[in-house]
Amino acid sequence: MTKPEKSRAKSKTAPRKPASAPARACAVVVLAAGQGTRMKSALPKVLHPIAGRPMLGHVLATAEALAAQRTVVVVAPGMDQVARAVTDGAAKPAAIAIQQKQLGTGDAVKAARAALKGFAGDVLVLFGDTPLLRAETLRAVLDALDEKTAVAVLGFRPDGANEYGRLVTKAGGILERIVEWRDASAKERKIPLCNSGVMAVRGEHLFSLLDGLKANNAKGEFYLTDIVALARKAKLRARVVEGAAEDLLGVNSRADLAVAEAVLQQRLRGQAMADGVTMTDPATVYLAADTQLARDVSLGPNVFFGPGVSIGEGTVIRAFCHIEGATVGKDCIIGPFARLRPGAKLADEVHVGNFCEIKAATVERGAKVNHLSYIGDARVGQGSNIGAGTITCNYDGYDKHLTDIGANVFVGSDVAFVAPVSIGDGAVIGAGSVVTKDVPADTLAITRAEERQVAAGGARYRERKQALKAAKKKSKA
Ligand code: UD1
Ligand code: MG
Repeated sequence: MTKPEKSRAKSKTAPRKPASAPARACAVVVLAAGQGTRMKSALPKVLHPIAGRPMLGHVLATAEALAAQRTVVVVAPGMDQVARAVTDGAAKPAAIAIQQKQLGTGDAVKAARAALKGFAGDVLVLFGDTPLLRAETLRAVLDALDEKTAVAVLGFRPDGANEYGRLVTKAGGILERIVEWRDASAKERKIPLCNSGVMAVRGEHLFSLLDGLKANNAKGEFYLTDIVALARKAKLRARVVEGAAEDLLGVNSRADLAVAEAVLQQRLRGQAMADGVTMTDPATVYLAADTQLARDVSLGPNVFFGPGVSIGEGTVIRAFCHIEGATVGKDCIIGPFARLRPGAKLADEVHVGNFCEIKAATVERGAKVNHLSYIGDARVGQGSNIGAGTITCNYDGYDKHLTDIGANVFVGSDVAFVAPVSIGDGAVIGAGSVVTKDVPADTLAITRAEERQVAAGGARYRERKQALKAAKKKSKA
C-alpha cells in the first residue's frame, strides 16, 4: 500500500513550488489498447518498433526515469503480445489492466481503476503511440499540478496540417477545454496549440472526473480530453505545459512511424557522437535504442545496428555492415560488408572482412575471418586464421551442430567443416578440404583428390576446340 501524500504547501503564503520540495508520488498509466486501425496492420500499433524497440517500450523506458510508484499498461483482451512485451525482461514489470471494449481514451483510463486502488498521488497518463517523449518534459507536466490545479496537459505546436485535438486556453496557461479535431469548428481547427495526449491528474479527482464523461461526440467515444471541461465545471483548474513538437509526435500511420524513426535516429546518432564515436556519414548509420558503442568506435557509411549490440573501444566498422545481437570487443576491424548475427561474440582484435557472416559463434582474441565465410554455431580459437570461402556446415536439415576450432589453427581457402567437428590447437587444414572427422592438435588435414598434370594437354585442348569451331562455321556457310 502506498502512503497517502502529505500536502505540498502548508500555507497559502508558502511558495507554490520550492526547489527543494520532494516530488509527490506519481503513478503512470500507459494506454495501449487501441489496435491502431490507421496502421492497417495485424500487429497492435504500440508494438511497431522504432530504432529496434516497440513504441510501447520507449514510453515505458522514459516513464521509468520518473520512479513511479505504480505503472499500469492498459491493453485490450487478447493482446497477449502487448502484455508479454511489457513484462518480458523488465526489471520492474508494469501491471496490466484490460479495457474490455475500446470505447475511447477516457474509458481506457477507467480500466486502470483497480490497479490504482489505494494510490493517492498524481497520475500521469501517457499514450503508447507517443514514443519520443522525454522524461524531463513529463516531470514538468507533473510539476504543474498543485492543490488547485487538478489537471495539467502537455500541449505543442506541430508544423503543418494535422488532426490533433485543439487546446482552448485563457491567459496564463489556463486550459478551458480540449476539442477533438472531428468535433472542432472551423475556427477551433485553426488553434495552433494541440494536445499531445500527455496528461497529469491529481489522483483524488481522477476517477470522479472520468465517471462524468459522456460519449456524445463525433466518434461516440469517452474522450479523456473531456475531463478538462469537467474539471472546470467542478471549480478545479486545468493548465497547459508546452513541449517541443519534435518530442510529441503521435504515431497513427506508417508515415508517422517513419517520421518518428527519423527523429529518433537523429537523436541516437547525436548522442553516440557526443559519447566519442566517429561517423563518416551519420545520416546513413542506423542505430537501435540499446546500441552500446564505446569511445573511439569508428563507423563507416551505411552501417545498420539491430537490437542487442555492444561494440568495444577503438573498433572500426567499415561501410555496409549489418550487426544484430552481437558483442564485439576492442580494436576489432569489421567489414566492409560483414554481417554479425545474434550470438556472435567477438573478442578483442578480431578481424571480420567482406562478405563474412558470423552467427552464434565465439571468435577469440586476434582471430581472422577475412573473406567470404560463414561461421555459424562455432568457436574460432585465439589467433586462428580462417581462409577465404570457408564454411561451417552447421545444419544437417534437422539439427544444428557445433564446429570447434582451437587456437592458432590455419585454415586454407574454401574449406567446409561438416559439424559436429572439432579441430585441435595448431592444426593446419589444406585448402579445398571437406573436414568430417575431428583433427588432433598440430595435425595437417587435407582431403583434396591428388592433382594430375598432362604435359601439353592445355595446348591440345585449345587446338581441338578451335578445330570444332571452324568446322561449325563452314557447315553454316
Ligand atoms: C488522441 C487525443 C488527441 C491528441 C492525440 C495525440 C483523445 C480523445 N484524443 O487522439 O486529442 O491530439 O491523441 O496523439 O484522447 N487507446 C486505448 N483505448 C481506446 C482508445 C485508445 O487504449 O479505447 C489508446 C491507443 O492505443 C493509443 C492512445 O490511446 O495509444 C491514443 O489513441 P488514438 O486512437 O491514437 O487517439 P488519437 O486519435 O491519436
Ligand atoms: Mg494517436
